[in-house]
Amino acid sequence: MITTVATQPIAGQKPGTSGLRKKTPVFMGPHYLENFVQAIFDVVGCAGKTFVLGGDGRYFNDRAAQVICRMAAANGAARMIVGRGAILSTPAASHLIRLNKTDGGIIMSASHNPGGPEEDFGVKFNMPNGGPAPEAVTEAMYQRTTTITEYRILEAQDLDLATIGRQQLGGMIVDVVDPVADYAALMETLFDFPALRALFAGGFRMRMDAMCAVTGPYAVEILERRLGAAPGTVTHATPLPDFGGMHPDPNPTWAHELMAEMMGEGAPDFGAASDGDGDRNMVVGRGIYVSPSDSLAVLAANAHLAPGYARGLAGVARSMPTSAAADRVANALGIGRFETPTGWKFFGNLLDAGRATLCGEESFGTGSDHVREKDGLWAILLWLNILAVRKQSVADILTEHWATYGRNYYSRHDFEAIATDKADAMMAALRASLPGLPGQVVEGMTITAADDFAYTDPVDGSVSHKQGVRILFDGGSRIVLRLSGTGTEGATLRVYLERYAPGPDGLHHDPQEALAPVIRASLALSRLTEFTGRTTPDVVT
Ligand code: G1P
Ligand code: ZN
Repeated sequence: MITTVATQPIAGQKPGTSGLRKKTPVFMGPHYLENFVQAIFDVVGCAGKTFVLGGDGRYFNDRAAQVICRMAAANGAARMIVGRGAILSTPAASHLIRLNKTDGGIIMSASHNPGGPEEDFGVKFNMPNGGPAPEAVTEAMYQRTTTITEYRILEAQDLDLATIGRQQLGGMIVDVVDPVADYAALMETLFDFPALRALFAGGFRMRMDAMCAVTGPYAVEILERRLGAAPGTVTHATPLPDFGGMHPDPNPTWAHELMAEMMGEGAPDFGAASDGDGDRNMVVGRGIYVSPSDSLAVLAANAHLAPGYARGLAGVARSMPTSAAADRVANALGIGRFETPTGWKFFGNLLDAGRATLCGEESFGTGSDHVREKDGLWAILLWLNILAVRKQSVADILTEHWATYGRNYYSRHDFEAIATDKADAMMAALRASLPGLPGQVVEGMTITAADDFAYTDPVDGSVSHKQGVRILFDGGSRIVLRLSGTGTEGATLRVYLERYAPGPDGLHHDPQEALAPVIRASLALSRLTEFTGRTTPDVVT
């Protein structure tokens, strides 16, 4: 029943920030998925192992799952734990990998990128700790794809992935499990569900936009069924293969329906959204948007109010481009503080070693040591728990936070689908200019340092170079520029902008206005327009 299929290396199967992502037709091309999956198994080993499998339900998710199961069986896996319908949110997959003490898992997702026959698909491998494979492992997978000559696959009928229960596929056991139950149980151990039920029973109103993506069933079960939020609190709650045409990225641009409701008349108390695979979150109060960097800082300052974090935090880690707001909280609490490269995989060692409890990225990612991925619904529940204890509005909590710590005005400007050669030329010129920058005055601000961020992992000593250009100014202003590692079309340039206002005055400006000199400096120093022809960003968050 096992067939060995001759194949050839396919160029470009190099995992990026978060697994291998390509246009769906590319993934559906001859041997494309198979080559990459065989490379995964060749690197991590498959015989006798147990893996978790699930995805965000996007187009091709169901068929890819059948192929991956047949290949796992042909490569001698002992057992595959699959979310019903081949669906698992990324944090739920991370939890199942850990809970069942498995050898890792395969997640099918392109996260916040749109899905559909002409949109994006992705595959990523997570380690036995539940976290994304580190760079050394993904690099080995890539190397394997460059020499691959054959893959193994079982000839068999499709599995019934719609029914919970046990099946046999060749020599492999397939356990189809409820994608929500274990995750919801984990959330009950971390948060004060009775207090949250009382909050909703007391008339607290919330809107949760699941963006036709994977979080829908999780949010309906937890918010509406277990916590008693009004039916209909979760909108766009049914996951669809094309996300209903939505761009399932929870930011003010793409979650504009939610933003309009939260800024409008009669807005509910609290709004939230999550992305394609459920690991990102956006949080909005009535009439006030919470930037992800501020969200991380507020969560760090208040996490002890939730039962799962009542003993306090060991440390807080943020990605380098994330604002320094969380650092100020860590300093005040006297706990560990870490600055890592972009991408959740860099938090894994800190979490495993017990050195960081909370982690966050400016890209709408927040999480803790409960899993090894960022976790959208977790962040939303932690906010709810804090609101239930403090009995204040989101706006009041933010105002108090800024009064205590000062405010790190923050914004990210994305320039999408730039021709790769132009973007590369711009970054090369910028990198070459760095040694001459310190001491220069731009827009009235003095540059104090300029470098290309390199990171030495404090746990295993591994070093990652070229993780983004940083230009630092006196007074805490900062510009960071890097090219996206998750895009599938040309290059996406991300420009991260930050300015610190210590207060007590000047804490309530519009971020784009407060950042205006920093924005102008970023355009001047990068010579963005000269190299790319662009003047205005495609997405501002
Ligand atoms: C983006 C975000 C990054 C996040 C990743 C996966 O990566 O910037 O913070 O970890 O998606 O969700 P990028 O496209 O910038 O490489
Ligand atoms: Zn995601």
